[in-house]
Amino acid sequence: MHVLVAGGAGYIGSVMTPMLLKEGHTVTVLDRFFFGPTLSVAEREYGGKLRLVRSDIRSFSPSVLQGVEAVLDVSGISNDPSCELEPDLTKSVNVDGGKRLAVHAREAGVRRFVYSSSCSVYGHGEGLGLVETSNRHPVSLYARAKVEVEDYVRNLGLESRGQFESCALRLATVFGLSPRMRFDLAINVMTKNAYVGRRIMVDGGGRQWRPFVHVKDVARAFIAAMNAPQEKVTGEVFNVGSDSSNVQILNLAFRVRDAVPGTEIVHAPTDPDLRDYNVNFEKIRRVLGYETTVTIDDGIREVLSALRDGQLDPDERRWYTLKQYLFLREAERVLSELAVDGRLLSSPLS
Ligand SMILES: NC(=O)c1ccc[n+]([C@@H]2O[C@H](COP(=O)([O-])OP(=O)(O)OC[C@H]3O[C@@H](n4cnc5c(N)ncnc54)[C@H](O)[C@@H]3O)[C@@H](O)[C@H]2O)c1
Repeated sequence: MHVLVAGGAGYIGSVMTPMLLKEGHTVTVLDRFFFGPTLSVAEREYGGKLRLVRSDIRSFSPSVLQGVEAVLDVSGISNDPSCELEPDLTKSVNVDGGKRLAVHAREAGVRRFVYSSSCSVYGHGEGLGLVETSNRHPVSLYARAKVEVEDYVRNLGLESRGQFESCALRLATVFGLSPRMRFDLAINVMTKNAYVGRRIMVDGGGRQWRPFVHVKDVARAFIAAMNAPQEKVTGEVFNVGSDSSNVQILNLAFRVRDAVPGTEIVHAPTDPDLRDYNVNFEKIRRVLGYETTVTIDDGIREVLSALRDGQLDPDERRWYTLKQYLFLREAERVLSELAVDGRLLSSPLS
């Protein structure tokens, strides 16, 4: 199959893209590459089967979609604080860009479209074991954008009577290693902080529930949704994770401390952390036959050993989503003030 992965160079995308290539698919990655050349190993290994398109979901040429049979959308500004930086920018990327991609995919005759939503749409959840039809109470701009686009994308599928098979996956918080590492996700950051400073910070008291899922299992869920019969997915939404991966944040800190003895757990006094959701994952298991394969403890060990082996630099700016977006904003400001012909220190074009 020819698959287009929007955001294919990101944390999830740079794990999913090689997995698709390994399964024999041809892959086009549409991405701004805000976090660097994270697919260079895949490029070397799979050469002609992988096409990288450096473009923006808000402005790409629809010709990129020619011959594409499935679009997996894992693009966009991917956490709460980065979304709060510039609300108008967030709306243009995460809402308008996400909808534009789906509309162009449908017009180009792409059959299958899988959108990356988030369990954070449940926000401050009502009770335990939230299912796909439970009320959503998004508590951030990021999560409100997810609600809007998942509804839009699913409706496009329902309206098109079998021509456009769209669905949304509500991902639990992801963990584990990726060529574009993220140290702003709970398990990864706790493990890194325990390793580097023997100290873990717990926000909001630590009683709040959160489900987790390994990045490889997320990639497998997208592929399962891509391959499933159309009647199982069109217009549907699936929570992605496993029931046993619902953990209270303080309990997560204890598990990381067990892996790094001598780690101190510190409570942050002021941050309320309004997100609190415990999610049920029965639907994806029943309908798609999907089960996760990597446990939280495996993930903690995996990140820890990459840090110990020196495979991962804990100080790399690109592994911190907010820091990288702040850096890109500053770079854009400097360029717009000082550049001549797009250049700063090198000679302007004559
Ligand atoms: N990681 C998680 O825990 C998690 C949980 C739930 C949902 N999600 C969603 O899954 C998706 C992928 O998350 P991730 O963790 O891989 O994030 P990420 O930030 O690592 O990846 C996002 C990718 O999108 C690209 N991108 C950003 N703006 C773009 C634009 N305007 N045009 C083209 N490309 C653009 C970036 O360059 C990056 O490669 C996001 O939509 C995120 O909201 C992630």
